[in-house]
Amino acid sequence: MLLTFTLNGKQYKEHIDPDLLLIDLVRSLGCKSVKRGCETSCCGLCTVFLDDVPVLSCSVPAARVEKRRVTTLEGLQEEAAELAGFIADQGAEQCGFCNPGTIMNAIALFRENPDPDENEIREYLAGNLCRCSGYEGQLRGLMAFVEYKKKKGLAAEEKASLSDPDGKKDAAADAGKGGIQA
Ligand code: FES
Ligand code: FES
Repeated sequence: MLLTFTLNGKQYKEHIDPDLLLIDLVRSLGCKSVKRGCETSCCGLCTVFLDDVPVLSCSVPAARVEKRRVTTLEGLQEEAAELAGFIADQGAEQCGFCNPGTIMNAIALFRENPDPDENEIREYLAGNLCRCSGYEGQLRGLMAFVEYKKKKGLAAEEKASLSDPDGKKDAAADAGKGGIQA
């Protein structure tokens, strides 16, 4: 069958067997970050985004992605690199095999909830298994990332208020809005 879909922003038309799995499709197109672990929907290693929603590609028939968008870690390099650094800083990477799946789900979590607490992180990533670690390093890395994002946001706000201490720009903008509305 002929399948038309987008992978990491690029359009594809591929002839596939009707029983092909999404994990095999994306790996055959060079997305080797998508790992094969349990193949029974239990480990999270094969996570990809389908129209921005994380799915387990070992359990999705490739035929389901017709006219849809698939994203793997290869398509999220910038977002992933920042986050991966925090996990690596905590020494959480051992063999690293589980990392792509964990990072995909962490990105999904932060898009949904930019300020998760420890329990929310544990709950969201409960389906991502790691054979090497006790998850504490990964958790510390993700918590450190949340703190960093918060500080970065506060610093940006502070910078904006220093460059416009009396909020004159806002007042001018508000006045402008009033004029248009009137
Ligand atoms: S390989 Fe897909 S969930 Fe484990
Ligand atoms: S670091 Fe080896 S499986 Fe997680």
